[in-house]
Amino acid sequence: MKVTVFGIGYVGLVQAAVLADAGHDVMCVDVDANKVERLKEGVIPIYEPGLEPLVKETYAAGRLKFTVDAAEGVNHGEIQFIAVGTPPDEDGSADLKYVLAVAETIATHMESRKILIDKSTVPVGTADKVAAKVSEVLKKRKREDLKFDVASNPEFLKEGSAVGDCMRPDRIVIGTSCEETEEILRELYAPFNRNREKIIVMDVRSAELTKYAANCMLATKISFMNEIASLAEKLGADVEMVRHGIGSDPRIGYHFIYPGAGYGGSCFPKDVQALIKTADSIGFDAELLKSVESRNNQQKAVLFEKIDKHFKGDLAGKTFAVWGLSFKPNTDDMREAPSRVLMEALWKAGAKVQAYDPEAMEEAQRIYGARDDLTLCGTKESCLKNADALVIITEWQNFRAPDFDMIKGQLKHPLIFDGRNLFEPRRMQQRGITYYAIGRGA
Ligand SMILES: NC(=O)c1ccc[n+]([C@@H]2O[C@H](COP(=O)([O-])OP(=O)(O)OC[C@H]3O[C@@H](n4cnc5c(N)ncnc54)[C@H](O)[C@@H]3O)[C@@H](O)[C@H]2O)c1
Repeated sequence: MKVTVFGIGYVGLVQAAVLADAGHDVMCVDVDANKVERLKEGVIPIYEPGLEPLVKETYAAGRLKFTVDAAEGVNHGEIQFIAVGTPPDEDGSADLKYVLAVAETIATHMESRKILIDKSTVPVGTADKVAAKVSEVLKKRKREDLKFDVASNPEFLKEGSAVGDCMRPDRIVIGTSCEETEEILRELYAPFNRNREKIIVMDVRSAELTKYAANCMLATKISFMNEIASLAEKLGADVEMVRHGIGSDPRIGYHFIYPGAGYGGSCFPKDVQALIKTADSIGFDAELLKSVESRNNQQKAVLFEKIDKHFKGDLAGKTFAVWGLSFKPNTDDMREAPSRVLMEALWKAGAKVQAYDPEAMEEAQRIYGARDDLTLCGTKESCLKNADALVIITEWQNFRAPDFDMIKGQLKHPLIFDGRNLFEPRRMQQRGITYYAIGRGA
């Protein structure tokens, strides 16, 4: 089938490549001409496991195309995915300007029936706004004869395993009340719906809310566990024991109950905020979600507080080795990453940072540029040299079993602040390392 995808970020590019891999004929449109040119040259703008070969193969096969020419994109497919960003507006609500700009573009260039599909995470009621925008433009063009439909098809991929998630989705939520649209989307997703029925069809507003409910539920689990971690610390309990104790209950499960340095990324923080704003807009006080958010903001400061307390507030001139910059492993994405909150607090206190991340070094360079108090190091080992302490903030696989003698040899003091509970406090004590973790005491 012929498909057009507007927006070639984490969601659009991965979805487009996976659809092309299944045999669909996909054209990607983006306003970022540099990104489009680089993709045509085989340069993938993001790090996502398995994405590069998939993009290169499908591009070479002619099933994946890239363009900045909106008219060419609009006229390519009957199915038009909108996968552009929905960043928080100044007040925290989702900013729909990119989504509505794409709706306007489609309406401006369409010459035949189109199905516009909101793949971006958008508040309840957005499909109505997209439809109103398209109608308005078609009216101006005096082309009200042109038919269109707007459906919701939220994306549930996880950065770091996005390709696998799209190839083998847990569920495919389709929000539409139009039988024809449903049939077309069922055909589009048939290659991904083979081992069991994964397609869940519902009305548009429920589909829009499903995406927010999913992310807010996961964020809630994390904030809940961080709260228990803080309690454990104060009560002399070990949150890792508690985690095992509760995760074994199948009603709770082990997923998303890891205490840590707070959730980040491009989705949870903004989606929790946006749902709070949606609730506010209808006069409903989303008390629980507000707590989830404020708990997370506190949690992002916890590592710095431990460091500051250890050094009795005297951080000026100290140097900290930071392992992990991305908001989670297997991505180079640093949007809302806890590492940023920590580094910025350290800088404010007059400390220096030597940082290493397996994939996010370029992104850190792009965000922070050249500054005297940040050294981006080529290896996790070189990053330790003469630092006052090691701070671990992202649980990359190759941080999990480091050479502790080497760490002790490189650091000025045998001191580790671990924002991901990677090690056993007792073993650290035996090794002569002062070890701070989350919810486990010093
Ligand atoms: N990143 C994730 O893990 C994830 C997962 C599920 C859902 N989502 C949602 O999907 C949406 C996209 O997220 P993302 O992380 O892929 O964003 P992104 O910022 O990585 O990419 C967005 C892309 O859209 C392009 N764009 C902006 N305006 C455009 C226009 N008018 N026409 C064409 N292209 C345009 C930008 O240049 C950019 O390349 C958001 O709503 C997000 O909440 C993201």
